[in-house]
Amino acid sequence: MLDRNKVKQFWDARAKTYESLAFESIANLEQNEKNLHLKINHESEKVFSWLGDVRGKKILDLGAGVGQWAFRFIEKGAKSVKAIEFSEELANVGEVEANKRGVQNLQFIVSPAEEFDTDEKFDIVLCSGLCVYLNDDQFLTLVRKFPKLINPGGLLLMREGMAIADRHEINNKFSEHLQSDYSATYRTRDQYLKPLLINGLELVKDENMFEEGHILNKYKETRLHLFLIRNKTNA
Ligand SMILES: C[S@@+](CC[C@H](N)C(=O)[O-])C[C@H]1O[C@@H](n2cnc3c(N)ncnc32)[C@H](O)[C@@H]1O
Repeated sequence: MLDRNKVKQFWDARAKTYESLAFESIANLEQNEKNLHLKINHESEKVFSWLGDVRGKKILDLGAGVGQWAFRFIEKGAKSVKAIEFSEELANVGEVEANKRGVQNLQFIVSPAEEFDTDEKFDIVLCSGLCVYLNDDQFLTLVRKFPKLINPGGLLLMREGMAIADRHEINNKFSEHLQSDYSATYRTRDQYLKPLLINGLELVKDENMFEEGHILNKYKETRLHLFLIRNKTNA
């Protein structure tokens, strides 16, 4: 089980890397410049080809970090992005950056994603790199909210670390790459999908982000995985 306070401390500390690391590195944790560009280009191309035209869409970004995906949605013409982030420090960095870029349709809300409540519905809900930091009770609380948050016909895109064979947990282990203790839980595909496919949500498709043999598949136990899910409920 992950220690929630340690997870939060890790993310608060990442905010201090603003302006010393590349903006995109703060939350996605890739600190090698060449790999970072490779990652951003490959991932953006894949994610936006799966989502199609996002112009005019209302987006909810859960566990948004400093808003690196939020800014991409806005560049691509999204109507608005609500970015939910539990680290006030990271949300502040995102707000400073939004001001710098003159972006007005991005709102940061400081809250644990699993406790965020609203009557508003969204065309696209993005859950990127969040669930690996949630314990099972938090994960289940979050996924039970999805049907209510997504417009009929709307989409949920999950981009998460996934265990290849058995659930894989890193508990407060020192990472050389990050020079910090690190914790994360990697669920299997089934452990993601079983609780997700509830109350009218259906799987459209899912796939690993990087093909086998790709340089960015760094760990033998895990893969970055994309799940595209639709709310098939009628309006
Ligand atoms: C790997 S980063 C991903 C950031 C962004 N979604 C992206 O893909 O670049 C994980 C983010 O989730 C946030 N986070 C972790 N647990 C959270 C929770 N319970 N509620 C909201 N945010 C959380 C962290 O602070 C961090 O910003």
